[in-house]
Amino acid sequence: MTDIPEHLLKRAAAAKAKATGADAPAADTPTEAAPAAPVAAAPAAPVVEAPPAPVAPYVAAANARKKIPWWATSGLLLLPIWAISYVGTLERPPQEATGVLAEGAHVYEARCASCHGATGAGGSGHALADGEVLTTFPTAAAHIEWVARGSDGFGLGNPYGDAARGRVVEGGMPGWADVLTTEELIGVVLHERARLSGSDDDAALAEAIDHAVHNGELDLHGHLDPSTVTTAEIQAILDSVAHEDDGH
Ligand code: HEC
Repeated sequence: MTDIPEHLLKRAAAAKAKATGADAPAADTPTEAAPAAPVAAAPAAPVVEAPPAPVAPYVAAANARKKIPWWATSGLLLLPIWAISYVGTLERPPQEATGVLAEGAHVYEARCASCHGATGAGGSGHALADGEVLTTFPTAAAHIEWVARGSDGFGLGNPYGDAARGRVVEGGMPGWADVLTTEELIGVVLHERARLSGSDDDAALAEAIDHAVHNGELDLHGHLDPSTVTTAEIQAILDSVAHEDDGH
């Protein structure tokens, strides 16, 4: 019997195993014998490590900065939705009323409405609305003087207001000059005339006063003296404003 070289037997066994699909135990044979790859055999070229390119400070800063944490990203995604809905809630704030008329409305509510009614329809005091107070006082100046002095300032039994109206002091109306500043006094009277009784002239007067006060041409922070004040003195204040307004 001829001797079959060992390596041929192994190769046959490997081929048979490959054909039958079994794991080839002999796969090591050729590779074991194969010479090392020529690439590996070549002497390694000396690799010169390139020094790391200098990093610009802003790049370094960008790399070093804290990243947005993952849990915050959902909030960022919702941000535009929040912004849109937030803008939707914005509406122009109600125009804050300013000036003597607004001031007068406050004073009226706090000091006068209890006796004359919230809308000036009257109560223990006379009705002021619907032109009533304009009939008693054709001019704002006379009206202001009355409110400044009150029943006691005029004296029981004395006439007040327009003669044709025929009012006589019966008592019960407080004087307000010591309590209210001149501005508040003018304001509450113009409120009664312009707002409660619908006088356009007095609304225009209120505007002129606001203008003058705003420009520093009129200072109404003091008080009228209830024992000496006259309609003429008050009329002079109002006229100064009216002239001022004519100039524009
Ligand atoms: C305590 C109740 C009372 C209060 C508060 C009061 N009044 Fe009077 N008011 C009266 C009475 C009473 C009269 C009538 C007075 C009289 O006959 O002597 C009157 C009369 C008047 C008149 C004259 C009306 C007319 O046609 O004869 C005016 C204007 C007036 N009040 C304005 C005011 C203003 C402005 C205030 C607030 C700053 C005010 N009153 C607060 C009771 C009140």
